[in-house]
Formats: sequence, structure tokens, C-alpha cells
Amino acid sequence: MPKTVVITGATSGIGRAVALAHARLGANVAISGRREEQGNQAAREIVEAGGSAFFLATDVQHPADIERFINSAADKFGAFDTLITNAGIEPPRSLPLADIPVEQIDAVLDTNLRGSLITIKYGLAHLRKPGGDIILVSSLWGRNGGAALSVYTATKAGVEGLTRALAVELGHDGIRVNCLAPGFIDTEMSRRFMGGGDFSPFFTTNVPLERIGLDYEIANAMTFLSSDAASYITGQTLTVDGGHSIKMSAANFQAV
Ligand code: NAI
Repeated sequence: MPKTVVITGATSGIGRAVALAHARLGANVAISGRREEQGNQAAREIVEAGGSAFFLATDVQHPADIERFINSAADKFGAFDTLITNAGIEPPRSLPLADIPVEQIDAVLDTNLRGSLITIKYGLAHLRKPGGDIILVSSLWGRNGGAALSVYTATKAGVEGLTRALAVELGHDGIRVNCLAPGFIDTEMSRRFMGGGDFSPFFTTNVPLERIGLDYEIANAMTFLSSDAASYITGQTLTVDGGHSIKMSAANFQAV
């Protein structure tokens, strides 16, 4: 029987690549995102890749939208095997906390942290017990600090805490809960962050593998975490960053 995988924020970037990777394994894939045209295009690609697709335009800042997406996905495919909370944004500009408008703080918290909490809250009713799994998406900033990144960092640290708490809460039901923390991955988000500049010297200096990551490299790690090969892994954050975080830690140590 094909697996059913439900992914938020899959109209582009990492979420879309994760959807396609599961489709290649023959899964039923339910995706959400804010952009109708890109969502329908991603759904067509899921079918071409060998899966069955369901797309519903959804804004995870609105709990009623999330509930409608989750219930529609369950109506279409039945019980979920894997629920992935990938939808995420960063503030439009990296600013010190004192200068960030309150509406932007709310939007980032509501998308990255509250959106994950509410997606899982509604998704749990449909998640296979035992055997289902949840994957949240953090970032290198979930465990590091960076000037002008306070809001994004707070949400991703929250996501990692949520992973640990839910792994304990849901272990008895046979549900695994893990988190994936990507380093710099070539997507719309990272291109916005880099502002069109040439970042190759940054990667050569800071990332042991000396390059940016690609969306399918995150998707490969996700298909591992959602597979039976990861059956005894829960409550963990898997970092997929070409070694960036290790070099970050070493740099901090040398600076002390
Ligand atoms: P992206 O901008 O290409 O994709 C983000 C996805 O989330 C899009 O499908 C977008 O429509 C969706 N989304 C955003 N706000 C939403 C909302 N309110 N409701 C529903 N969907 C919404 O970005 P990317 O890079 O693929 O990001 C995916 C995840 O990976 C995010 O959680 C991000 O924080 C995380 N991440 C990305 C890194 C990178 O270098 N690209 C690094 C570390 C973490």
C-alpha cells in the first residue's frame, strides 16, 4: 500500500523537492502552500514522478486554513504515514530586534512556530498509530546565534524544543518525531537572504564541503527519516549542512 505523506509549504524549494522525492517512492503526497499556480504545477510534477497528488492553497498563519487542508488530505488519502511541517519564512530584512515591526515578528512566529504547532495538533487525529512519524524543519539558527536574526532564531529553537517534547508525548502511540536542520540550501529563501551577491567565497571559507546545498539533498535526508530505516530514531535533529555548523562551533571555540 502506498504511504501517505503530508507536507506544508511545498509550492517551492525544499518542500517541493521533499514532495517529489516521496512521489518517486510511489507515495500519496498532499501538499499545501500559499501560491495556487505553483501548487498546481508541483502537484502535476508529483504525478509525473510516480505519486498521487493533492494540493490545497493554504496559509499556515490561519488555523482554519490548516484544519481544512488536513481534513481534506485525510478525506482524499486516509491515514497519514508522515507529516512534515516545512512552511517557513524569514523577516523581509535582517534587522536588530528593536527595529523589527511587531507585525513582522507576528508573521514569522505564526508561520514557523505556531503554524507547526497547529498543523501537528490537527494532523495527529489522522496520523497512523503506531507507525506514523512527524518531521519538523529547523535551521542552523535553531542552535546558533546571529545578530539581526533574533525572530527567526527564536522560532527555529522553538521548533527543536517542540520536536523533543512531542517525541516524549507521542512515543507511547508508536509515533516518531524528528527534526531536520538544513544549512544554506539553494532556494528562493536563501537567494533572498543573499540578495543576488556572489557568496562563493563565503562557502569556501565557512562550509567544509565548500558549496551551497541543493534541495534534493535535504529531500534525501527526509526520505530516510520518514522510512523504516529510521525506525528507532525519535526526538532528534538531523543537521544537513555540508559541515557548516561544525566549522561554526570550531570558530567560536578559537575565538574564546
Ligand atoms: P522557500 O521560500 O522556497 O519555500 C518556503 C515554502 O513555505 C513555500 O512553499 C511557501 O509558499 C511556504 N510558505 C511560506 N509562508 C507560508 C504560509 N504562511 N502558509 C503556507 N505556506 C507558506 O524556502 P525554503 O528554503 O524551501 O524553506 C523551507 C523551510 O526550510 C523553511 O522552514 C525554512 O525556514 C527552512 N530552511 C531553509 C534554509 C535555506 O537555506 N533555504 C536553511 C534552513 C532552514
